Amino acid sequence: MDAIAPLPAIEISGLYTAYDKADVLTDVNIVAPAGQITCLLGSNGAGKTTLIRSILGLTPPHAGSIKVFGEDVAGLPTHRVIAKGVACIPEGRRMFPKLTVEENLRLGAYQEPAEAEIRRRLAEVYSVFPRLAERRGQLAGTMSGGEQAMVSIGRGLMGKPRVLLIDEPSLGLSPLYVKENFRIIENVRAQGLTVFLVEQNVHQTLAISDSGYVVSGGRVVAQGSAAELRNNADVRAAYFG
Ligand SMILES: Nc1ncnc2c1ncn2[C@@H]1O[C@H](COP(=O)(O)OP(=O)(O)OP(=O)(O)O)[C@@H](O)[C@H]1O
Ligand SMILES: [Mg+2]
Repeated sequence: MDAIAPLPAIEISGLYTAYDKADVLTDVNIVAPAGQITCLLGSNGAGKTTLIRSILGLTPPHAGSIKVFGEDVAGLPTHRVIAKGVACIPEGRRMFPKLTVEENLRLGAYQEPAEAEIRRRLAEVYSVFPRLAERRGQLAGTMSGGEQAMVSIGRGLMGKPRVLLIDEPSLGLSPLYVKENFRIIENVRAQGLTVFLVEQNVHQTLAISDSGYVVSGGRVVAQGSAAELRNNADVRAAYFG
């Protein structure tokens, strides 16, 4: 008996995205298997955030398809993509600095009407991040950079997503906080979520990823398992010196 292959969490085919006239993403093909960490590596301006914006419907592609668990979401408005179970932890984290930690977390559950459910999710996030529980009443803008990174991941989890898109979580963090954040991302996978991790920190990202892609100039230039990418001559030349 043939096993039925599970649907990938994200499947992107023949994707082209432009802001003005010139394409920023050209014929991008990516599969993020469910329950795994798939990374997207690339240097500044490669098109990583644009890919996330395309998935979320913030900058809709002009060609290609984006399937989330088999359903095409290309061109759907953002709230409808989110309703399919996609959450995003944006570049630069984007706290509401004048709101408390808990108020920021609650914003992640804005699609959930039941207060009891929101409290259950808060308790879950606080068990992952005891630091946030201690500081739930503190204004988010006064938290350290590493603590704000925890707030942003916690806020993403508050929507009970099936897929988490994370845009450069290690940016601006000290090595200790990078390690802590990546440990939490592995923990997220252990809970069965799919992670699509956009990063420039090649070493540590490949250490926690199952597979990945390298983009340059808006095109996928390498792909494979994390081990294959670590051993890929071009990737080594570009990133491992
Ligand atoms: N709103 C915009 N309007 C026009 N061009 C844009 C816009 N946003 C990004 N671009 C251009 O698209 C290209 C890809 O940008 P993108 O932000 O996707 O890169 P990135 O890989 O996320 O880079 P970084 O690592 O610096 O965040 C760049 O050349 C950038 O200048
Ligand atoms: Mg970016």
